[in-house]
Amino acid sequence: MTGLGRAGTSGVTARPKVITVTVSPHAPAPVTGTAAGPASGSAAVRALPASGTLTVTVSGRRKLTDRVTEFRLTSADGSPLPEWTPGSHIDLRIPVDSPPASPDTPDAGQTGQTGQTGRTRRTLVRQYSLCSDPADPSSYVVAVDRSADSRGGSAALHRYATPGTVLEISEPRNHFPLTRALNYVFIAGGVGVTPMVPLAAQAARSGRPWRMICLARTSGDMPYLQELQERHGGAVAFHASVEGRIDLAAALADLPRGTAVYVCGPGTLADDVAATVEGQPAVDVFTEQFTAPVSTGVNTSFDVSLASTGETFTVPEDASVLSVLEAHGKLLASSCREGMCGTCEVSVVAGEIDHRDSVLTPEERAENESMMICVSRCRSGRLVLDL
Ligand code: FES
Repeated sequence: MTGLGRAGTSGVTARPKVITVTVSPHAPAPVTGTAAGPASGSAAVRALPASGTLTVTVSGRRKLTDRVTEFRLTSADGSPLPEWTPGSHIDLRIPVDSPPASPDTPDAGQTGQTGQTGRTRRTLVRQYSLCSDPADPSSYVVAVDRSADSRGGSAALHRYATPGTVLEISEPRNHFPLTRALNYVFIAGGVGVTPMVPLAAQAARSGRPWRMICLARTSGDMPYLQELQERHGGAVAFHASVEGRIDLAAALADLPRGTAVYVCGPGTLADDVAATVEGQPAVDVFTEQFTAPVSTGVNTSFDVSLASTGETFTVPEDASVLSVLEAHGKLLASSCREGMCGTCEVSVVAGEIDHRDSVLTPEERAENESMMICVSRCRSGRLVLDL
C-alpha cells in the first residue's frame, strides 16, 4: 500500500502515514514552556524541561540563490551544540518590530513595548530544517527562503539576522528521520532540499541505493545543487520547471519494493508524488511541511476537563484549549501554537476530537487518543484530557 507517511513512526510498512511535519511529533520533546495566566500558584499540569531553548549567535550568512540565504548558528558561549540526526529541525525565534498586535494574533509569540515609538516587538517562531553535518557540533546551518513564509517570519530573519546577531532556538527535534528502507528516492522542491542534504548523506552512508531529484525554476534557483552534485555525482538529478512540468510518472516508474520516497517542497508536490506512486507495492511517501494547516471547521464552544483534578473549563469559540488552560494557570508545553510542531500533544481520555493540526496521520486521528490542544477542538461538547 502506498500513502503519505509520518516519518519516524515505523519503517516501510503497509501502513500509510501522513507526514506533515510540522513536524509531527510522535511523543514530542517539549521545547518551549509557556506559563501564561495568573500567577496563582496553580500546579503545573505537565512538567516542562528546565531549558529547551538555546542561545546562538549568527556566525555566518551566505546567499545561496536570489531568494534563499544560509545562516550558520553557533552557540553563544562557544560550547558544542546538542546532537541531532538528519531530518531534524529547530524552532527559531525571530524578533520583529511591528504595530501593536493582539496576543491572539497567530504570529504573536510574545509582545512587549519597546521604547517610545509605540511599536511592539513580537517574536515569531518558525521551523527550519538543519542542513549541516550532524557530526559537527560546532554549529547548526539553516537555509531560509525569504518569500516562502507568507506570514513574514522568513523575510524578517533575512532582514534581522546578520553575523553577530543573537537568536534563541529550540533544541533540534526530528519528526522526519530516515526510515529503514531498501531504496530511497528524495524529491526536493527549492528550499525543500534542506532536510534532504543530511538525509541523502545518511542514505549514502547506509550503502542502500538512493537518488535525488531536485526541482526548481532554474538551476540557479536550487539551493545546494552544485554541492550535492559534486558530493554525490549522478545520484542527484535536476529538473528546471521553466522547461515544463516534470514527468513524475516516468521519474518514479517501477520503484523497487521497499522504497521510501521523501518529498519536501511547495504546493501539492507531496500529493502529486503520492498519487503518482499509488498502486506501486511496498512504497511509502514521507513528507514534511512547515506551514500552518488551514482550518475549515466552524468553531463552537465546548468544555474541557482534566482527568487528574476533575476541573472543568469552558473553551469559547474564539479560544483554544491551550489558551484557556494557560489562562487558568496551567503550565503546558507548546511551541508553534499553530498545530504544526506537536509539542502540545495531549492524550484524550474521553470525548470526540475535532482534529485541526497537521501533525497526526489519518490513522492516528481516527484512533481519537490524542490531540494538539493549540488548535484542535471537540465534536462532542466535552473532552476529558489526561492532564
Ligand atoms: S504547539 Fe505546536 S502543535 Fe501545538
